[in-house]
Amino acid sequence: MNQDEMKQAVAQAAVETIEPMLQDDSIVGVGTGSTANYFIDALAAIKHKFDGTVASSIASAERLKNLHIPVFELNSVFDVAVYVDGADESNHQLQLIKGGGGALTREKIVAAVSEQFVCIIDASKIVDVLGTFPLPIEVIPMARGHVAREVLALGGDPRYRQGFTTDNGNIILDVYQLEIRSPEELEQTINNITGVVCNGLFAARPANQVLIGTATGVQTL
Ligand code: A5P
Repeated sequence: MNQDEMKQAVAQAAVETIEPMLQDDSIVGVGTGSTANYFIDALAAIKHKFDGTVASSIASAERLKNLHIPVFELNSVFDVAVYVDGADESNHQLQLIKGGGGALTREKIVAAVSEQFVCIIDASKIVDVLGTFPLPIEVIPMARGHVAREVLALGGDPRYRQGFTTDNGNIILDVYQLEIRSPEELEQTINNITGVVCNGLFAARPANQVLIGTATGVQTL
């Protein structure tokens, strides 16, 4: 199985995992990225079994609508039964780095309101210590220099993601050279820097389940 086939298999497994959690009036939170895209495609097969979705990006909302899966604004729904999304890294505590696609803030908001968070990844993304994948931080554009200096002081190497604007109109700094041994603490520290909108550490609210696509099948962490 190549990486794409693993992503597709784990996306299908996610649909099978969430199906028993859903009722006619349930809302499904939908993430962003290539694995989430496979999930959206697989979700279409059971679209009659729930009310609709909330999406963590404009791109995912478009993909859902193209498959005639209803998409609601988050503020118009009462709760979200389950959120399914990919990640860039997961440790064994189900804490994640997300935001490679730049949708981290909306992803974190949907994760925060969801009862369950099922993360879907391929085996290459499991790590012992988070930080090999550069940590994305969404920043208010005028605070770029300030946030970069503060991150440097924390020992990171921040790089401006050229030519990219988030769905919220902000910029992304990708932070290299972090060996993240205390994810919750770092998540909070970075969020406290003035000008930071959100960072891609999902540690205070980790996943409830991580499904891993491997060459020999899907495993659960
Ligand atoms: C989007 O902003 C990210 O958080 C994605 O969930 C993450 O980058 C995983 O993307 P892929 O499924 O494309 O690897």
